[in-house]
Amino acid sequence: MRFKNASLRMFFFFYIISHTFLVPPATSSSPSSVVATNTSGGHWIPLQRSIGISAMHMQVMKNNKVIIFDRTNFGPSNISLPNGHCRYNPRDMAMKVDCTAHSVLYDIACNSVRPLTVQTDTWCSSAAVDSSGTLIQTGGFSDGYNKLRTFTPCDDDRCDWIELSVPLSNNRWYASNQILPDGRIMVVGGRSAFNYEFVPKNSGNHEGSYYFKFLRETKDSGPGEENNLYPFLHLLPDGNLFIFANRRSVLFDYIRNRVVREYPVLPGDERRNYPSTGSSVLLPLNLTGLGNKARFPDAEVMVCGGALPGSFPMAVEKRVYVEASRSCGRIRVTDSNPQWVMEVMPIPRVMPDMLLLPTGNVIILNGARNGTAGWENAVNPALNPVLYKPNEPDRNARFKVLNPTKTARMYHSSAVLLPDGRILVGGSNPHRLYDFKAYPYPTDLSLEAYYPNYLDPKFRSLRPTIIKIEAANNRLPYGGTFSMTVSLQEFHSVRGISLSLVAPSFTTHSFAMNQRMLVLEVIAVGRVAPRSYKVTARGPPTPNVAPSGYYMLYVVHAGIPSRAVWLRVK
Ligand SMILES: *[C@@H]1O[C@H](CO)[C@@H](O)[C@H](O)[C@H]1NC(C)=O
Ligand SMILES: *[C@@H]1O[C@H](CO)[C@@H](O)[C@H](O)[C@H]1NC(C)=O
Ligand SMILES: *[C@@H]1O[C@H](CO)[C@@H](O)[C@H](O)[C@H]1NC(C)=O
Ligand SMILES: *[C@@H]1O[C@H](CO)[C@@H](O)[C@H](O)[C@H]1NC(C)=O
Repeated sequence: MRFKNASLRMFFFFYIISHTFLVPPATSSSPSSVVATNTSGGHWIPLQRSIGISAMHMQVMKNNKVIIFDRTNFGPSNISLPNGHCRYNPRDMAMKVDCTAHSVLYDIACNSVRPLTVQTDTWCSSAAVDSSGTLIQTGGFSDGYNKLRTFTPCDDDRCDWIELSVPLSNNRWYASNQILPDGRIMVVGGRSAFNYEFVPKNSGNHEGSYYFKFLRETKDSGPGEENNLYPFLHLLPDGNLFIFANRRSVLFDYIRNRVVREYPVLPGDERRNYPSTGSSVLLPLNLTGLGNKARFPDAEVMVCGGALPGSFPMAVEKRVYVEASRSCGRIRVTDSNPQWVMEVMPIPRVMPDMLLLPTGNVIILNGARNGTAGWENAVNPALNPVLYKPNEPDRNARFKVLNPTKTARMYHSSAVLLPDGRILVGGSNPHRLYDFKAYPYPTDLSLEAYYPNYLDPKFRSLRPTIIKIEAANNRLPYGGTFSMTVSLQEFHSVRGISLSLVAPSFTTHSFAMNQRMLVLEVIAVGRVAPRSYKVTARGPPTPNVAPSGYYMLYVVHAGIPSRAVWLRVK
């Protein structure tokens, strides 16, 4: 294998390597019984028929386990608490004594679950992982309205939920969370909560909530139609927060409690937030070419799907299911005069999940073609995911319809990107309680995985493997460079190598909170041995661009991503 560019035959170590950490060998988690037949649009593999609960909320943790939970107040789940334990809660709406679990920990490599214990109701809540890798979960319903809970991942089977004694300053039901550059987490909105607050709460933090007029203004007044719950939050590289609700969006300075600018209204009549639930992503922040100058990368936000006003009362009162939105808006929020550019999805969709793939493309999956979010409010599940290629110059070639699942994943379903590049998909319970007999959309307790096309075995020789990362304690200091050794059977081109640093999302209600992807600047690629390459790259410049925490690093070669290695940006 020869390099086209002669100067790349030589490379230098950019700094003294203090430690070398070996990456554990990749463990295969794909059940071998299922053979992929049509991989042109990816394929689906069932993982678990039942994990005992319905995957309403999901978060991948730094130790390759996924915390999953639904709610405590709707009777027994289909998985028991361990060792005959029971939960005694005189305030629970359904059962004062409950010996079943409402949260599980899914082990990706073993494809197994362990029941966990939540004490109070986590229904329609929010969460974020803090910079140390602990999940900070906020709010819920009823006895859980203003609860704060934590879950710290562990390497044995001993860790469980902890309920904190200090409450939130407001009830948070249908709120959204964002991790901030200073390490705090901002919790925005919720039903009848036109305000935001910061966590953690500790002895030094007695501050309450801050009134936020935008949330009152974006609430619709039709019956049951709020259309601004679970607002979309994206931390921008200038340190301000992009906040979208209903059809409007602002750039918000949360330090001074001040709207810095208001963006144009997203064109079209559709509403984009619960119950007219759409979704949103911050498109990958591309740090290539920025060097270590204090410049910001451009930032673009995309919002897709949703429902027309009136869809909710039509579904509830008349059992008429209005066709969902087909439109997406894309806006370069860092422009001086930003404007929405509209795109048309090949399939209408309400309750879409939007996830960033390591390739920089967006996958849109789950949801329905008709109706809205809420109980019994949607029909016609959108079984085919669609891929969106943000960098495709031909506007007509940006969307591609992918192979369908067989399982409806509508209200109360979720999806997350796994470190191995698959998408973990679960849930859907569009009913007031567990209802396994409902037809045609029973409560679903299963988990399945979507394998994007890039996981096709025919790309094996192009797929990079990260052998080792040369960074002390797998830690990436701001502005620093780092190197890694990558093995590769068939080398395509130096320019075909890129690095994607991805913050895993907390996904619920079709919004992947804190999802973030950085395309790191590759400084040098050099061959060190046959089929072995050294890649040197620059880490993220500031906490505004990448808040401190655990990220998944994927090496992408010729469009084919490696398995990720966890790195701590600090
Ligand atoms: C295979 O997938 C392609 C692309 O999604 C689709 O057009 C085709 O119909 C599929 N073929 C079969 C046999 O499912
Ligand atoms: C859950 O348990 C109930 C009662 O035992 C059973 O009828 C139902 O089939 C189970 N559902 C699933 C998805 O396992
Ligand atoms: C990032 O930017 C560089 C330089 O403009 C470009 O060549 C590359 O394709 C971009 N990568 C992605 C994933 O957008
Ligand atoms: C979905 O919406 C389309 C377009 O309005 C309509 O023709 C169709 O009947 C709806 N489907 C259902 C199942 O209500």
